[in-house]
Amino acid sequence: MSVIETPRLLLRQVVEADLTALHAIQALPDATRWLYWEPRTLEEVRANLALRRSDPAVVHRGIVVRATGELIGDIGLHLGEQVHRGAELGYILHRDHHGHGYATEAGRAILALAFGELDLHRVCARLEPRNTASARVLQRLGLRREALLIENEWVKGEWQSEAIYAILASEWRA
Ligand SMILES: CC(C)(COP(=O)(O)OP(=O)(O)OC[C@H]1O[C@@H](n2cnc3c(N)ncnc32)[C@H](O)[C@@H]1OP(=O)(O)O)[C@@H](O)C(=O)NCCC(=O)NCCS
Repeated sequence: MSVIETPRLLLRQVVEADLTALHAIQALPDATRWLYWEPRTLEEVRANLALRRSDPAVVHRGIVVRATGELIGDIGLHLGEQVHRGAELGYILHRDHHGHGYATEAGRAILALAFGELDLHRVCARLEPRNTASARVLQRLGLRREALLIENEWVKGEWQSEAIYAILASEWRA
């Protein structure tokens, strides 16, 4: 899996030299508000990166703006059991780079990878329904909302709900 180029972005492997940029993204409380984890220290970012790089079920790419070379976020697929040919999509962008369509552009390229080279059957995403920015990204990518689980999880001191979105390979190709 080589570097993926889109009109404005490069999706490439995240390396040690990206840790500071990655930490700038993952240390912000508004970035992690609807995620399961709290803002991370540099050491936590380093450990998490090592974990993802060593996990064969994880496809992980940094999102780099071609014009500046700046790493502004990351995106990934978590592959499920091989027999089901499914994966879960996730992404995060630095708040200074919201509102430009970068997550959608990166998401489109990752779905092309998922349904092309990786030959997956289904890609899903799960989010707290109050994460409306992420829901809009998924809608723009063509994922449909398949389920809404009401207050099924206790997260960050409150009951949270979970919306499940998905798209099939056949729908992506159409
Ligand atoms: C989820 C997240 C990546 C969405 O970021 P975003 O900037 O809203 O998404 P995009 O990069 O796709 O940009 C889309 C926005 O840019 C606008 N835009 C501007 N230029 C655009 C272009 N050329 N193409 C597409 N959209 C463009 C769109 O109108 C849209 O704004 P809107 O949703 O208010 O209508 C961001 O909120 C984030 O990092 N959140 C924290 C982590 C998180 O929650 N991850 C998801 C876990 S499920």
